[in-house]
Amino acid sequence: MPVLQKLETLTTIADLRAWSRAQRSRGRSVGLVPTMGALHAGHHSLMERAVAAGDSVIVSIFVNPTQFGPKEDFARYPRSFDADCELARTAGVEAIFAPTVEEMYPTSASTYVDVGTLGEQLDGLARPGHFRGVATIVAKLLIAAEPEHAYFGQKDAAQVSVLRKLVRDMAFATELVVCPIVREADGLALSSRNAYLSAAERKQALVLSQSVRRVENLYERGERSARLLESAALAVIASEPEIDVEYATVVDWATLLSIDNAVPGTLFAVAARVGTTRLIDNTIL
Ligand code: PAF
Repeated sequence: MPVLQKLETLTTIADLRAWSRAQRSRGRSVGLVPTMGALHAGHHSLMERAVAAGDSVIVSIFVNPTQFGPKEDFARYPRSFDADCELARTAGVEAIFAPTVEEMYPTSASTYVDVGTLGEQLDGLARPGHFRGVATIVAKLLIAAEPEHAYFGQKDAAQVSVLRKLVRDMAFATELVVCPIVREADGLALSSRNAYLSAAERKQALVLSQSVRRVENLYERGERSARLLESAALAVIASEPEIDVEYATVVDWATLLSIDNAVPGTLFAVAARVGTTRLIDNTIL
């Protein structure tokens, strides 16, 4: 059980940098958990992992406008700051960084981080500019906090590939720590966007995790053909005709490009719209 302490709230980049340097001057490593808030047990598992690693842990809560397309859910993205702080406190987090949009994107800011064609695969295909926004805000956070470790969920598997490339290409000293997907008892992967689902949609959404399990089972039984694994996944999803599949694909986790045969470490990822809500799920084979 972490010792519960007072949670500091920082709102400026200067304060974040000073806080981080103060931890380091006391011999502590800094662990950053970047989030957009609406925290759930998946985020809690990232915080717990960071606390267990012995880091001084700071959670950033910032709904980053540049990673949302013009027709996406930026305005209605769930915001629950007080509950988020309480969850972070119970995990043993020491500080929250909650900047304004103006703090992160000063007027006339025009510098962005673009990871090239990697940012155009999977979610980047359906959400043009999304990974440019993600890479830009994460780069800003890493520059400001200079953390030894930054914690991300495997649930956003394509985001993980993009951020690994960002860290490598830009020579950030931060180590990325990728933590497993946290699921509800019935298999649904935790996501802040699950809050949008009606009871009926939540039931339909289960075919995503069922398709993931189907692919895992086939792979464990020796199936390696990527196309066969994909069609088995699509067959599971087709049992809920209301669901609109965006992709169900077997790819190399580093390049996000399609491959013919799955090998250990291959990513199977699925994205679909359930009603108006876009959900994703995946497994590393
Ligand atoms: O995964 C998320 O919640 C966001 O994409 C991130 C990494 C916090 C950047 O805004």
